[in-house]
Amino acid sequence: MLTADQIRRYCDHGYVLLPRFKSPAELAAVRDRAWEIARSPQATAGASRFTTRRESPGADPWFLDSAHAVRCFFEEEAFGPDGLLTQALELSINKIGHALHDLDPTFDAFSHGPELAAVARDLGLARPQIWQSMVIFKPPGIGGEVGWHQDASFFVTEPVSVTTFWFALEDATLANGCLWVEPGGHVGARGVLRERFEREGDVVRMQRLSDLAWPDASIALPIEVSAGDLLCFHGLLPHYSAPNRSTRSRLAYTLHVTDANCTYAPSNWIQAPSARALRGFV
Ligand code: FE2
Repeated sequence: MLTADQIRRYCDHGYVLLPRFKSPAELAAVRDRAWEIARSPQATAGASRFTTRRESPGADPWFLDSAHAVRCFFEEEAFGPDGLLTQALELSINKIGHALHDLDPTFDAFSHGPELAAVARDLGLARPQIWQSMVIFKPPGIGGEVGWHQDASFFVTEPVSVTTFWFALEDATLANGCLWVEPGGHVGARGVLRERFEREGDVVRMQRLSDLAWPDASIALPIEVSAGDLLCFHGLLPHYSAPNRSTRSRLAYTLHVTDANCTYAPSNWIQAPSARALRGFV
């Protein structure tokens, strides 16, 4: 599926962009389904706000019990001083998580298939396991910043294996909060896991492992993509996205995938793989 040049670029830079990986019809199906879920009472009743701020890692039951469910999370800026939503419900959602690939037939179909299995194999995932899926809405006006982080913090394996599959469901640009990455930041002296998100019972915490600085503007690179593009990146690659202050949403869908040949840490917040996780992309 990948050329030798694409594989070499992935090894060197920590990411690879596969343009037009999904068709307009496939994109329309999952976008429509995402909006449908966002409007469904069972996915939003009791929903909490989602934040990536370090001091508030999201230890609420709505979050913890979403590991094997389909649940919505509100943007931090969704509510006004009166406690009411300031814009329409479906324009107030930060994300849907975290088992769409497992529990929702539309997302199941989008998340599996021989093309994705081939990409995973080419990226070195011998026995892929899909642990988590999310629709990230980044709604117009209030779509929140996601601070610099490494996805390997949330899916610790020995050795590191987590790989992110990031599907652009809409165009992502500088204006509406595209991803920024640190090219090559996954290897060498910069390729250090800085934090580790751990769960013990109903308690979660972000443990600092290294004081290595996050990238600054001199080395960060924006990745502007078109709807249908697939961006795959290494679990140690630092990445970030700015707030969306534009009038256009920036829907994306992500899968976090590890290699079952590596040891999955019992302290990771998602445990008990589903049968679908165990079968990988097939
Ligand atoms: Fe991430």
